[in-house]
Amino acid sequence: KEALILDMDPGIDDAVALSIALTHSEFDLKLLTGVAGNVSVEKTTANLLKLEEFFGRTDIPVAMGAKAPLKREFKDASYIHGESGMPGYDFPALTHQPIDKDAIEAMVEVLDNADQAMTIVATGAYTNIALLLQQHPEVKPKIKRLILMGGSLSGGNVSSVAEFNVFTDPDAANIIFQSGLDITMIGLDVTLKALLSNQSIKDIAKMGEVGAMISGVMTAYNDAEGDGKPMHDVNTILYLLHPEFFTVEEHMIYVITEGPAVGGTISDFQDRWSNGQKNSHVAVDIDAKAFEDWFLTEIPKMNAA
Ligand code: BDR
Ligand code: CA
Repeated sequence: KEALILDMDPGIDDAVALSIALTHSEFDLKLLTGVAGNVSVEKTTANLLKLEEFFGRTDIPVAMGAKAPLKREFKDASYIHGESGMPGYDFPALTHQPIDKDAIEAMVEVLDNADQAMTIVATGAYTNIALLLQQHPEVKPKIKRLILMGGSLSGGNVSSVAEFNVFTDPDAANIIFQSGLDITMIGLDVTLKALLSNQSIKDIAKMGEVGAMISGVMTAYNDAEGDGKPMHDVNTILYLLHPEFFTVEEHMIYVITEGPAVGGTISDFQDRWSNGQKNSHVAVDIDAKAFEDWFLTEIPKMNAA
């Protein structure tokens, strides 16, 4: 089993990613942390709790993280993810709460107590992770790798160069990419190819309560690409389960923190600046058919879990 910390901003695609992680026997989820991103941190943290209740997994601690980016003003993406961040399905009222510790303290405790270095998956802005590294650099050896949804080598979804998670807190992203940690960046280069077709979104509505929930939130998701909707954050979990679906290259990634290109992730692919140094494994392609086939076979398993 792989021990994980998930740092998220649910968010519809985060919600689907977490649904798989919560039900998969391959994973040992040690902690879920919320961050401000698609909606406020109060709402993203509540959404983590709602999904735990939906799947009967209230045993996993949930901690609330940063309310705003390190330096920039916070702007949400409720125009894509709705006011609640998880519209389209009627989740029952919450019966449990976040733990008393904030996300940073909670991560430190989990990492300190871990026998082995752990994987952290981040599918929102990287504010919590950057604060962790700034305030507690001593935990770095306990982080085996960081799997990030975010960035892009080939154009943005907020501006022509910036992807939303990096754009939301570029200063945090900059800290992460300069940290020397083992980073896997799964950005728009692959996530805009990994679609759930409009037909599949309809079909899964009939696949039990989990299918109804996922179909509900995906229908309410105001993000479209061709005949389907991108499942951005789901790719992080898929990568842990099926890395063979992805084509990965080594790159030196720089984050732009100011000016009109702010939030851009630049690869020095001709090695003009970086003297052959690389800081990231970057997913550059995905077998999109394998992705959708895999996703559809996961739903019955999630119902059974
Ligand atoms: C990323 O931005 C968010 O809106 C999604 O949840 C995903 O993490 C895609 O750019
Ligand atoms: Ca997200």
